[in-house]
Amino acid sequence: MAKLIINEENRRDTIEPEIYGHFSEHLGRCIYEGIYVGEDSEIPNVKGMRVDVVEALKELKIPVLRWPGGCFADEYHWKDGIGPKENRKKMINTHWGGVVEDNRFGTHEFMELCSQLGCKTYINGNLGSGTVQEMSEWVEYMTFNGVSPMADLREKNGHKDPWKVDFFGVGNENWGCGGNMAPEHYANEYRRYQTYVRNYDTDNPIKKVCCGANVDDYHWTKGVLKTAFDHVLSEFHGFMDYLSLHYYVHPEGWEIKGSATDFDEEVWYKTLNKALHMDELIRGHSAIMDQYDPEKKIGLCVDEWGSWYTCEPGTNPGFLYQQNTIRDALIAGITLNIFNKHCDRVKMAALAQMVNVLQSVLLTEGDKMIKTPTYHVMHMYRYHQGSELLESALSDVEEIGVGEWKVPKVTESVSVDQDGIITITMNNLSVTEEEEVQIHLINSGHEVKEARIVTHTDMHAKNTFEEPEQVQETDFNDYQKTGDGYQVTLPQNSVVMIRMS
Ligand code: AHR
Repeated sequence: MAKLIINEENRRDTIEPEIYGHFSEHLGRCIYEGIYVGEDSEIPNVKGMRVDVVEALKELKIPVLRWPGGCFADEYHWKDGIGPKENRKKMINTHWGGVVEDNRFGTHEFMELCSQLGCKTYINGNLGSGTVQEMSEWVEYMTFNGVSPMADLREKNGHKDPWKVDFFGVGNENWGCGGNMAPEHYANEYRRYQTYVRNYDTDNPIKKVCCGANVDDYHWTKGVLKTAFDHVLSEFHGFMDYLSLHYYVHPEGWEIKGSATDFDEEVWYKTLNKALHMDELIRGHSAIMDQYDPEKKIGLCVDEWGSWYTCEPGTNPGFLYQQNTIRDALIAGITLNIFNKHCDRVKMAALAQMVNVLQSVLLTEGDKMIKTPTYHVMHMYRYHQGSELLESALSDVEEIGVGEWKVPKVTESVSVDQDGIITITMNNLSVTEEEEVQIHLINSGHEVKEARIVTHTDMHAKNTFEEPEQVQETDFNDYQKTGDGYQVTLPQNSVVMIRMS
């Protein structure tokens, strides 16, 4: 039996709500069809945004949304996406299927979407193929409140008031699709471009995201930070608020990837083992960041994470459409627990991607929409947003797996919100065995307020348009009170959330 010791007297850092962020790129059917159908669509919409999708996303309390990419960001020219839709330029989406992008979803539409979702805005700028002037004018267009060429243009396009840009990414994957740059070269470009990301609204400064590494590319992190911090003048302080990190779980590696739905027990454990690798990556990049930023003022922003499988048979390979099973629920549970545990450094993250692409929370087909197992995990974990991490640790946890692919049977994280309610999230990674967990708290008398679970006995269980509720969030009752806590039985393949006060 595993033991979970919780010290509710020892509050750690705040779990920033932005750790529960999402990502929407002009890729496949994420923006078009998945979110935006246009005002003339027969699918119910408000200003072109699908009502079913927006309503489902609002239940997740989405804190922040990143747009327009991804690789698309470094080919995106924002002026093509403003003004009357019939006049907007058409372009080839070279990264994603070579389809025509007609720019009917642009800056105004993104801001409208965020306003409907009630979330913060994270715009990713184009450093790879755009100019400093273009980036600077985009910021002016979105945020300047006064008389200026870009503010006037915004008003001419129907939006007099400026919007709030909360976060701004200065390029994306500039080590690869964003320009194939060397770290030192990117760092110098970052310094130059970010200078012109002006804070017109001084009460709400834009937080800047510097392009960080892919997976364990520590060479990139070292090179970027060394150059970025070389000869930094005092007025430069605050020039970097976040450094990004991208990590996708490919069960069979980048080339083969592996099926989203057809896998055996060994691949189950291999996949979860790879999800757990996030912990080592955060430690590794954070240790380098500590040399330049020992006070942890710069947040690590894992703004692309999730599973990336071989796309669904019969779909456009450039659209990255994949199904989502209870295995993905475990990936989400494991990863979010890791982020929570590292909330002293990880300050923002974005699951890739929100609808119809990679590890989505929603899938759509025509006017139908389904929630994936990952959706339900994000829903249960929403209570951690803005709460304080509590000291907690597991002991007597068995190591399980097949062959070389070993994982701990249970992972967890615990937080307390401003009303003193404790949220415990636990995962049982075993595909065959339940696990009893003895929860011990320092103080006695805690009462369970709510307990929920996402689980399925079949490791391949998924939701489809024919059977949309195979994997759901349901009430969890398998717990008993003990002297100093609770004894809980976690079924195989499960993600459990318990709230107590
Ligand atoms: O999310 C899909 C792609 O993965 C993004 O466009 C890119 O940034 C990453 O390589």
